[in-house]
Amino acid sequence: MIRPTALQSALIAAGILTLSACSPMKPADTAAVKPEAAATPAAPTLPVSINATMVALVDHASEPLWVAAYKPPKDDAGWKETQYNAYQVAVTGKLIQLVGTGPEDAKWAANPSWKQNADAMSVAGMDALKAAQARDVKALDEAGAKLVEACEACHKEFKPSLTTGGLYKSTNYPSKK
Ligand code: HEC
Repeated sequence: MIRPTALQSALIAAGILTLSACSPMKPADTAAVKPEAAATPAAPTLPVSINATMVALVDHASEPLWVAAYKPPKDDAGWKETQYNAYQVAVTGKLIQLVGTGPEDAKWAANPSWKQNADAMSVAGMDALKAAQARDVKALDEAGAKLVEACEACHKEFKPSLTTGGLYKSTNYPSKK
């Protein structure tokens, strides 16, 4: 048996560490880790459609991000809000890779090009987050441009009529001047 180190001896004396922790697993313990018990659980699904996720999360969070690059937040609360929007875009890029209740969702989520576009949206969201944390308006504008590219690339491929209100709400944006 290996000699306990001075620290282990002290811990044993204090009743914190018991030597049984070093003894080999008993058969009863090994039986608990049967391969079937370790099977991967099914991937989670979204309780709503990808389209609803697009409207309620993606569009809702991305528009204020674009606006923030035109009309930068003026106080701590405003920059915090911009950070939250960026988190939402970054995380939703991953969420829309899960299947929701929409009729096309499973087909989309299984397409490698969908994953690529959704990941690109997530990366743009992380860029926006870093920009918001640094209160760097120029970097936020660049992240916004990257974000538009991700929206457009995916809509062109999977939503060919390109009628997305969210993307073409630019008339609502405040003037840059
Ligand atoms: C990975 C692909 C993908 C990305 C990335 C993506 N979209 Fe979508 N989006 C879709 C698809 C597909 C639909 C249509 C869903 C349906 O009709 O069931 C949609 C629907 C929408 C809708 C609601 C439908 C409509 O016509 O208005 C809005 C708004 C929208 N997207 C905005 C955005 C914005 C803004 C971004 C970027 C910040 C974005 N989307 C990024 C694929 C994507």
